[in-house]
Amino acid sequence: MTEAARQFVTPLSLQVASQDRVYTSLFEEPMAHISLPAKADVMVVAPATANTIAKLALGIADDLLSTCFLSFQGKMIIAPSMNWKMYENRTVRKNLDTLASFGVLQVGPEAGALACGEEGTGRMAEPADILEAIRSVLTPKDLAGEKIVITAGPTREYLDPVRFISNRSSGKMGYALARAARDRGAEVTLISGPSCLKKPDGLAFVGVETASEMRKAVVEAVAGRATVLIMAAAVADFSPKTKSAKKIVKTGEMALALSTTPDIVSSVSSQAERPFIIGFAAETGRHPGRAAAKMKNKKMDMIVFNDVTEPGAGFDVDTNRVEIIDGKGRTKLGIMSKYEVADAILDRFIEIRA
Ligand code: C5P
Repeated sequence: MTEAARQFVTPLSLQVASQDRVYTSLFEEPMAHISLPAKADVMVVAPATANTIAKLALGIADDLLSTCFLSFQGKMIIAPSMNWKMYENRTVRKNLDTLASFGVLQVGPEAGALACGEEGTGRMAEPADILEAIRSVLTPKDLAGEKIVITAGPTREYLDPVRFISNRSSGKMGYALARAARDRGAEVTLISGPSCLKKPDGLAFVGVETASEMRKAVVEAVAGRATVLIMAAAVADFSPKTKSAKKIVKTGEMALALSTTPDIVSSVSSQAERPFIIGFAAETGRHPGRAAAKMKNKKMDMIVFNDVTEPGAGFDVDTNRVEIIDGKGRTKLGIMSKYEVADAILDRFIEIRA
């Protein structure tokens, strides 16, 4: 903690919260500025004030934090936090550019209400986003060179300008795959139907609504020489046969005629030069056989089966319970976070493609 940090929070509070020792002074333990950085894999400065950013950019070493920075040789992350006018200041920007040129990763700041009562860009990034950056810099880049297109979320099929058919998909599995693939060094394009999830950083994002928009976006992204396509989206299977240009007037009972949507996976798997294709099969019941047949029919290389009726699996939860089926066998996984499931799918891809 710097002296400024101690004006806001006491070392005791952070000691209790972290259940760990808090260091505040360069001289309380004479060699701490060498021994602490030597033990660390990653150094995070959060929040990073304009003053600390300037000191780090210039190599000024007048407290424990700035001296640690000079002796530290690992990955470095800063999460700036200041008034929006200060953040827009040319000197601050120049110092941040200098730190970026040293390989320091910047997270945030975000727009919103600031401590000074003003609104603007200057809020420290959310702790969850800082944690994600830490995980990202520490992850081995075993997917470097891969161009991965991932679809996520539901699609909406409109019957008129205000009404649509959709499904319960939240996008969580697809977004977890996108973040995991990005963290492992892949160049990721995430094509997402409507979702409440925050758009992840560090990847190309294409927002779509309907199945036909998703198909167009997938075909375009795959044509950019994608090496892998992961279809995690819950594409609507049916679409109203006609779409009314005006809101349909309620007159009583109504029958809705539906046609099937184009199968996105099949339009890619039938191409001569095609990426490695991973699909999903969400079923209500234990039907891995049905998933395996789907993989064969749609000419996929791997399919991830899950029974959405099982506790801790399926829609809108942070965990999943899946079985990975491919040409070489079946791997049944226990209940785990969707990020861990994503990693297991990517591990299996590396294993069977090798
Ligand atoms: O047949 P089913 O919809 O269960 O197949 C699921 C797999 O096929 C998923 O990977 C899904 O993203 C994909 N799919 C598709 N185009 C559709 C419907 C599903 O690519 N129209």
